[in-house]
Amino acid sequence: MKFFIDTANVEAIRKAHERGMVDGVTTNPSLVAKEGRDFRTVVDEIASFVKGPISLEVISEDAEGMLKEARELNGWIDNAAIKIPMTWEGLKAVKVCADEGIQTNVTLVFSPNQAILAAKAGATFVSPFIGRLDDIGQVGMEVIEATAQIYANYGFETEIIVASIRHPIHVYEAALIGADIATIPPDVLEKMVNHPLTDIGIKRFLDDWKKVPKK
Ligand code: G3P
Repeated sequence: MKFFIDTANVEAIRKAHERGMVDGVTTNPSLVAKEGRDFRTVVDEIASFVKGPISLEVISEDAEGMLKEARELNGWIDNAAIKIPMTWEGLKAVKVCADEGIQTNVTLVFSPNQAILAAKAGATFVSPFIGRLDDIGQVGMEVIEATAQIYANYGFETEIIVASIRHPIHVYEAALIGADIATIPPDVLEKMVNHPLTDIGIKRFLDDWKKVPKK
């Protein structure tokens, strides 16, 4: 299972990278806006130490505009994956990107049928947003489960990125399904290491160690 970090915060990515937990990074316009920094500068900084795919999103709504952006963003760094929204225009752009050898990540996916379209267009990655589905009372993880089954049925090579992760249980459930990738917000990654029995266990070992006779 690969871990991508879902943020445009360079320090958070660096911290996770130093812990050996970064196989790639996903950004989106909202995450970039949150940092209040120049996009290109942020991307160059991330790419200086992350060698896995870095998702960079287009903002055009027509295929021609998306392609222009995709080619430009792809020229910025060696490991770009161009994030393209799930629309017919987006799928047209994904197809051309696939033909040109540009990696793509089809985003804003909320149903297995949309995931099928992304795979047929030749997407490198597909990103179902599970948290946003949970938010409206639909079980987001069911989309991951169905998509994984469908891709296996047909041997689609598109990799599933479980996106819009809200808490550690999402990561656990994604792993049980066997999703290729979870893109994890830094705060969720932080929580994954915690267990009260680990803390109690460390304290007990250290306390007991003090009782060991020293020469
Ligand atoms: O990067 C896309 C996705 O992970 C966004 O998540 O929390 O805005 O629904 P969220």
